[in-house]
Amino acid sequence: MTRIAAKLSLLASAALLMFAGTALANEKCATCHADIVAKHTTTLHGKAGKDCLSCHGGGDAHMANPSKSNIIRFGKGANAKEQNAQCQQCHGKNEKLMFWDSSYHKKNDVTCASCHSVHKAPKPYAKQPESCFQCHKDVKSQANKFSHHPIIEGKISCSDCHNPHGALGHGMIKAENVNQLCYKCHADKRGPYIWEHPPVEEDCMKCHAPHGTKAAKLLKEKQPQLCQQCHDWSRHPGTPYGGNQNFTSTFGAGRGGLARGCTGCHGTIHGSNAPGRANGTVYGGKRFIR
Ligand code: HEC
Ligand code: HEC
Ligand code: HEC
Ligand code: HEC
Ligand code: HEC
Ligand code: HEC
Ligand code: HEC
Ligand code: HEC
Ligand code: HEC
Ligand code: HEC
Repeated sequence: MTRIAAKLSLLASAALLMFAGTALANEKCATCHADIVAKHTTTLHGKAGKDCLSCHGGGDAHMANPSKSNIIRFGKGANAKEQNAQCQQCHGKNEKLMFWDSSYHKKNDVTCASCHSVHKAPKPYAKQPESCFQCHKDVKSQANKFSHHPIIEGKISCSDCHNPHGALGHGMIKAENVNQLCYKCHADKRGPYIWEHPPVEEDCMKCHAPHGTKAAKLLKEKQPQLCQQCHDWSRHPGTPYGGNQNFTSTFGAGRGGLARGCTGCHGTIHGSNAPGRANGTVYGGKRFIR
């Protein structure tokens, strides 16, 4: 036998032993939990050779005197720390779980089993967004508003933006800060711009909400109210229109100015690279006008 073949046969017998051991351990449980044991072979953990004991603990006392109190249980009503520790034995080193200990979920006794179904599904993945909506009803209602990120349409999922296991950034987002997150998919908003609009650079959330809003384009408020939180438009210069009154009439319902909102004229609201002044007029990129 070559050395490689010898190694292979050693590996094969080790694997056989492992599966034989697993089967033996599971048989003990099958007397009373036949359905779960049968299904186990179809789950990811079963296929990976993990036996009942690897999650539910010793079991000897339970075998002698079956009760809920002498076995490690999962899900609602069971000790959160104890059950999560069982999963963490094997998954604690996964880099996606690096910030679990500081996560809002861990701190609020949310368990691995609140999101992952080990026995029900072939793969223990958390179904999104349904599994999240169970607890985050407010986000569910936001995600159903007139303007929303296409979460319910299945085009993006909660975990495209959040790490449910915790993250360094606030709100468990998968980036250093909100803007860095948004740039991942909206790279055109990154700039750099010659004429920057300070709130855009500071935090996209000054004007937008992440999940959904009543106003169009995920805006927290309709225009002009949105802009008027920071800008006093009564001081709006009228020069290019030959006087303030004229300008005001531009805003009038009849002229459609107000209906189009401020961005009807200030169209490059996220920043502009257009010349500060265009063709000798007083406005241009500096005022976010093309
Ligand atoms: C002799 C029968 C018997 C055997 C063998 C047995 N169990 Fe149980 N098990 C029970 C009964 C009965 C209950 C429910 C107790 C109750 O409802 O109060 C139970 C409860 C459980 C629970 C908790 C269920 C829940 O509702 O959360 C788990 C987990 C469990 N068993 C795992 C195992 C594992 C793993 C093995 C093998 C090591 C095993 N059992 C072997 C009879 C058995
Ligand atoms: C990877 C960890 C893991 C392994 C391995 C595992 N379980 Fe479970 N078990 C869980 C979790 C988590 C739950 C909570 C419900 C769920 O997630 O589906 C659970 C729930 C249960 C329950 C109570 C719920 C029910 O449907 O009655 C029983 C009984 C049980 N397991 C028995 C077993 C037996 C028997 C085996 C071996 C064939 C086994 N478990 C292997 C993690 C595991
Ligand atoms: C004894 C070790 C062990 C324990 C305990 C364990 N797992 Fe696993 N888990 C595995 C292995 C092995 C796989 C197969 C895929 C892999 O290698 O990551 C797996 C796969 C998974 C996956 C899919 C990961 C992927 O990359 O596809 C999830 C999710 C998961 N386990 C969750 C849990 C949860 C929740 C618990 C506790 C209820 C748990 N595991 C307990 C060993 C374990
Ligand atoms: C709030 C819901 C939630 C909780 C709590 C949760 N998970 Fe997850 N988990 C998910 C979702 C969603 C995914 C898939 C998306 C992703 O890759 O981030 C996932 C993915 C995983 C994976 C696969 C990671 C990989 O490498 O691709 C493992 C392993 C896992 N979870 C284990 C755990 C363990 C262990 C716990 C408890 C300490 C836990 N999860 C708690 C929602 C959750
Ligand atoms: C496009 C990215 C994105 C998606 C997709 C997303 N979120 Fe968020 N979420 C955020 C950002 C950014 C924040 C932080 C908002 C802030 O700074 O005010 C946040 C905040 C939260 C918060 C904190 C409370 C709140 O409402 O502000 C919860 C809870 C939350 N998200 C849950 C979810 C759930 C559940 C899903 C899936 C249904 C989801 N998110 C999908 C980006 C996203
Ligand atoms: C079993 C209930 C439960 C489930 C399921 C759940 N969460 Fe949570 N989540 C909580 C609790 C409790 C908090 C902490 C209190 C709060 O901020 O609402 C929290 C906090 C959060 C936060 C941080 C909020 C902040 O204030 O910064 C985000 C983001 C989040 N969850 C996303 C998710 C995602 C994504 C999923 C699905 C993969 C999910 N959650 C599933 C209960 C749950
Ligand atoms: C994972 C990718 C992803 C991330 C991250 C992301 N978005 Fe989006 N965003 C999308 C997709 C997909 C659409 C829908 C585009 C379409 O339908 O053409 C969208 C649409 C939008 C819209 C237009 C909505 C409408 O009603 O037309 C706005 C505004 C928006 N995103 C802002 C943000 C902000 C702010 C952030 C950061 C919190 C962000 N996005 C993060 C993928 C993402
Ligand atoms: C000062 C308020 C404000 C801030 C801050 C802001 N936006 Fe916007 N955003 C708007 C307005 C207003 C619209 C709608 C423009 C229109 O309909 O003419 C919009 C539209 C969008 C759209 C959809 C239309 C398009 O241009 O693609 C995306 C995507 C978007 N913003 C992303 C972002 C991102 C990413 C950030 C942070 C880097 C951000 N916004 C910061 C006001 C803002
Ligand atoms: C959170 C506060 C905030 C919001 C909301 C906001 N802005 Fe601004 N905006 C600023 C700041 C700060 C400046 C810089 C002022 C300066 O340099 O004097 C600015 C500058 C501008 C300028 C250029 C002014 C100049 O003097 O060159 C225009 C035009 C403008 N904003 C239009 C808008 C419009 C239109 C909206 C609504 C879509 C809006 N802003 C929403 C804070 C805001
Ligand atoms: C009909 C076109 C039009 C509309 C609609 C419009 N603007 Fe302007 N805005 C201009 C022009 C043109 C200038 C440049 C005037 C200049 O440079 O002298 C300007 C300048 C500004 C400035 C910089 C001057 C200053 O006052 O500090 C701000 C801020 C501003 N607009 C905010 C707004 C806001 C907020 C709205 C919505 C309530 C709005 N604009 C609607 C055309 C418009």
